[in-house]
Amino acid sequence: MMKAVLCTKYGAPEVLQLGTVTKPTPKNHEVLIKIHATAVTASDCILRGSKLPPGFLLLMMRVVVGFRKPRNPVLGLVLAGEIESVGRDVTRFEVGDQVYGFTDLGFGTYAEYKCMPEKGILALKPDNLTYEEAAAIPYGAILASHYLKTGNIQRGQKVLIYGASGAIGTTAVQLAKHYGAEVTGVCSTANVELVKSLGADHIIDYTRDDLADRAERYDFILDAVGKRKSSTLKSQCQKALTPNGKYISVDDGSPKSRVEYLVELKELIEAGHFKPVIDRCYPLEAIVEAHRYVDGGHKKGNVIITVAHSD
Ligand SMILES: NC(=O)c1ccc[n+]([C@@H]2O[C@H](COP(=O)([O-])OP(=O)(O)OC[C@H]3O[C@@H](n4cnc5c(N)ncnc54)[C@H](OP(=O)(O)O)[C@@H]3O)[C@@H](O)[C@H]2O)c1
Repeated sequence: MMKAVLCTKYGAPEVLQLGTVTKPTPKNHEVLIKIHATAVTASDCILRGSKLPPGFLLLMMRVVVGFRKPRNPVLGLVLAGEIESVGRDVTRFEVGDQVYGFTDLGFGTYAEYKCMPEKGILALKPDNLTYEEAAAIPYGAILASHYLKTGNIQRGQKVLIYGASGAIGTTAVQLAKHYGAEVTGVCSTANVELVKSLGADHIIDYTRDDLADRAERYDFILDAVGKRKSSTLKSQCQKALTPNGKYISVDDGSPKSRVEYLVELKELIEAGHFKPVIDRCYPLEAIVEAHRYVDGGHKKGNVIITVAHSD
């Protein structure tokens, strides 16, 4: 058996309860990962609270994840840990490898162990990161990489990241800088210094600044907070595009998760060109508190959960 957090119905953070479930055994092409850290993502909270407005998206989520309750009661999309055992046919990983990954619709990382296919979204973790730091990478990496690649950003282009202080935003700012763009980050006053420290060339404070009197135009704008969060400045951003400029929201379409994004981030991190952003760390036992905090909608980067093992 193993320790896990169970979500047996949709609702407030208190629906999450610590319990025990059967420890999984890897199939032939799977690896068993001993999880040391996971993260509470905005997606976890949307799923747990079943927070999408009634309509097609909510229906689709329920079809995929479960109608009355999550089909897999163990939530969690992100993990960092160590390979404990491998299936008979596994060739990409060995026992003892330190990995980080993203489960996509598999979920199940709020637990001590998780099996993943060796060809899943799983890669060796950056050598210079702790497990907690590594768990701060996959969610932003998968989403920001997908949307920035859609933008096909060229060196010297002007890129604006609306919501530059969240998990996706902090990743997008750093990646857009790496691709050679001139980056403007939009955030609130409390996050100005954080976004500057990530390399943004310009900062706009959505609680104070106005775009109406600015002539600046952008080749690519990423709305990194999604369609449920808005401001006057966000509406103004949508009109501040160059003639061939592109505006995209993280709520547009379903991102394709690729393991290559994690491999690329490992290289960037080890070369010192990218840093994880962690707001707070909680033990697995404090998952309700962690969900309450993320539900607030103002986390900076990532909220990490450490998973302690008794053995
Ligand atoms: N398409 C898909 O399949 C898919 C998948 C996953 C996620 N998503 C979307 O991605 C979003 C999650 O992004 P995330 O994890 O990066 O979010 P997050 O970390 O929860 O974002 C929090 C940040 O949003 C900022 N924020 C809150 N209200 C804002 C506003 N009105 N204007 C500008 N910034 C605001 C906050 O900054 P301040 O404190 O400075 O306000 C905070 O730093 C989800 O909510 C979902 O909409 C989509």
